[in-house]
Amino acid sequence: MNERILTGITTTGIPHLGNFLGAIKPALEFQSTDNDTYFFLADYHSIIKQQDPNLIIESVKSVAMAWLASGLDPNVSKIYRQSDIPEITELQWILNCVTAKGLMNRSHAYKDAVAKNIELNADEDKSITMGLFSYPVLMSADILMFNANKVPVGNDQLQHLEMTRDIALRFNHIYGETFVIPEAIVNEDTKIIPGLDGRKMSKSYGNIIPLLSDEKTLNKAIKKIVTNSLEPGEPKEYENCNLFNIFSSFADDQAVNNMKQAYAEGIGWGDAKEQVFSYLNQIILPIREKYFELLDSPSEIEEILISGAGKVRPQASELLSEIKDKIGIRTIS
Ligand code: ADP
Ligand code: TRP
Repeated sequence: MNERILTGITTTGIPHLGNFLGAIKPALEFQSTDNDTYFFLADYHSIIKQQDPNLIIESVKSVAMAWLASGLDPNVSKIYRQSDIPEITELQWILNCVTAKGLMNRSHAYKDAVAKNIELNADEDKSITMGLFSYPVLMSADILMFNANKVPVGNDQLQHLEMTRDIALRFNHIYGETFVIPEAIVNEDTKIIPGLDGRKMSKSYGNIIPLLSDEKTLNKAIKKIVTNSLEPGEPKEYENCNLFNIFSSFADDQAVNNMKQAYAEGIGWGDAKEQVFSYLNQIILPIREKYFELLDSPSEIEEILISGAGKVRPQASELLSEIKDKIGIRTIS
């Protein structure tokens, strides 16, 4: 069956290895001429958390490069920037009007922010914007605008998918069959990739290995992975070893077994890091080549995004007209 697969990445920060292994690579596995694949840059989502315009545009560029350098083929998949499809934000307003506030009250992102305020004895709503509160509605609009039926996401996004389904069903109930009810696809094999300090690799923790980097930067990042103080020659345990956990998230079984053996034989941390670097460098090599090509031609990136928007916008505009007609926003006759 021809599936319509859609997923987006919020453009805050510079893409890291965790984003690549946890989001970009699994999403690109759906790219084939048998599927209809939509991959987009969620730039309106990014202004919820980031208010420095220079960082926003830098992130939009680097997330676009990450998709393209990792193998997104613009002739097969649609790649576009959310803000180039104004129909999405128009749809968000319409969806706002069928979305129960109580549903949004249950959103993890919002509840976490409230809990943090309570912990700090601050006003419950301190620094909570309507953007953060209604974020799941924008995400619903992203998905429903294109009637996607499959949405590959990380575990943390499952609640948003449930909300999208609720909102779509509510709309369909009030106004008649309109939206396809989407399903989340969560790759259970995808692990959380740890960062340099062993916590989840995340731009919020500043513990990342960047995806798009030259050899020197990659090597430097790997050297920063925290290990213990065992000397070369002393056998090392791979269980709970951060360097090993990072390595095993991208290495094949054979390489992982070799590394286990090297640990038992007392490999020094410096040599182990050198091996992790060489292995990862091989994986990143083709991505890096394409990245440097794109880095030199920002106008090519812009053209690809504009062309992608041109391909999908007519579809958004057609569905939005149909929706507006259904809700009674139409010409007087
Ligand atoms: P960050 O934590 O750096 O802010 P995001 O929340 O923007 O990353 O994540 C974007 C995508 O990358 C999500 O689909 C998320 O599941 C995936 N992702 C982020 N960090 C990791 C990680 N450490 N391991 C696996 N997947 C990750
Ligand atoms: N909220 C997602 C994240 O933070 C990004 C996103 C925005 C998304 N809109 C989407 C993902 C629509 C899938 C479908 O990772």
